[in-house]
Amino acid sequence: MKFKKNFIGTIKKMIIFLTVFTVSSLSIVYAQYAQTNDSLRSIAERLTAKGREFYIGCAVPSSFSGGDQTIVRTEFNIVTCENDMKIGTISPNRGQYNYGGGDSLVNFAQSNNMVFHGHCFIWHKYLPGWVDGTKSTMDTYIANVGAHFRGKIYVWDVINEAIQRDGSFRINAIGSGGQDGGSIWAQRQGVKYLEDALRDAHQADPNAKLMYNDYAIETNDAKFNGMFAMLQDFVSRGVPIDAVGFQGHLYPEFSQADANGLAAKMQRIADLGLEIYITEVDGGAPDTSASGLQHQADIYYWLMKACLAQPMCRAVQVWGIRDSQSWRNNPEDPVDKAYAPLIFNDSGGKKPAYYAIQQAMLEALNATEPSPSPSPQPSSLGDVNNNGVVDITDALLISQYYVGLIPSVFNAANADVNNDGAINIIDALLIARYYVGLIPGF
Ligand code: XIL
Repeated sequence: MKFKKNFIGTIKKMIIFLTVFTVSSLSIVYAQYAQTNDSLRSIAERLTAKGREFYIGCAVPSSFSGGDQTIVRTEFNIVTCENDMKIGTISPNRGQYNYGGGDSLVNFAQSNNMVFHGHCFIWHKYLPGWVDGTKSTMDTYIANVGAHFRGKIYVWDVINEAIQRDGSFRINAIGSGGQDGGSIWAQRQGVKYLEDALRDAHQADPNAKLMYNDYAIETNDAKFNGMFAMLQDFVSRGVPIDAVGFQGHLYPEFSQADANGLAAKMQRIADLGLEIYITEVDGGAPDTSASGLQHQADIYYWLMKACLAQPMCRAVQVWGIRDSQSWRNNPEDPVDKAYAPLIFNDSGGKKPAYYAIQQAMLEALNATEPSPSPSPQPSSLGDVNNNGVVDITDALLISQYYVGLIPSVFNAANADVNNDGAINIIDALLIARYYVGLIPGF
């Protein structure tokens, strides 16, 4: 009898132990990210009000449902068009311009007090048959579309995916199929089309920020370095460019170490004086089990932390709302396939990845001191050496650069003070005149 009692007691203890163990380990799995009622948008707005400018956003089709509209206006303050501003949608035939979808999304954003991200002028993919890749086709298209949306676009993806995975310019296809296809723009115009497209966009909409946008630059060093060399060249020659878009189509293998690598890459972009946007985030879960979704949440968290720690990283945008809508469910290239990659489930419920973003943003908010007003400007026109003042040293640097004594000026974006597309002695003279008080500004 005694033995039986002891035995039952031991079994009971084991059951209690197993229950406590299971419940506590489950609670570790499910409750890693605190859940609050703060919308992502409200946190982004509070961050910006504290002087840490930050937007949270998404891509949607113009045909999005009422339910999705509610999600977007509640959760986000930057919006982009998934397909409505691509050349195939706007201009399926030469000379034809369909602005309906783009206009309705721009109106949606304006009436909900959001900024708009235009996507995209020049891409090698999904081109209608009439597009011949010539400069005149490119110039005309950017001039017309840029003028149509002028003043309504906060940031434009001017060039999408122009670098191959080995870091070379995308000209001819590498291999067959896959992600390294050729570009008719580069084939017809040479790689000068890249800077010409940026100049076209600047001319068409001078106040829009201009972005170069690409995938795999988060983790692929060769591709990032190829892109970086191009950007460095653009900045040093005064080609109009303001920002880099890291698309952020991630895989379950993306690790904390990868996020650290990304942070280092973002710092190099920031050092060029360019802003950073994470433009098309979707992060495949290894599977759709609870632990798979939790792992996915960690990926989102690491990515958010890296962006929020970098003052020049200005936005994170998810590429779609609900898992069921993601392009990665039906990719044209199997490499792009991903499971349940977004932050809302098929019924619009918030996934662990949503709460991971929320927590990262709340942590940034709590760590941000209110900025003294007015908020400091990182740099200004004429401040070529980025030391916070416009003075005779800036004029001297431009003169030295102009006569070939130095290969580049540090912040070329600030050097072309008369905005004529060239950095030359006129800019140096204008700065000198400003310095001695002959002119009030540029
Ligand atoms: C995708 C859209 O989501 C799909 O609906 C469309 O069929 C193909 O394009 N990189 C980009 C986006 O820059 O424009 C792509 O969007 C996804 C990859």
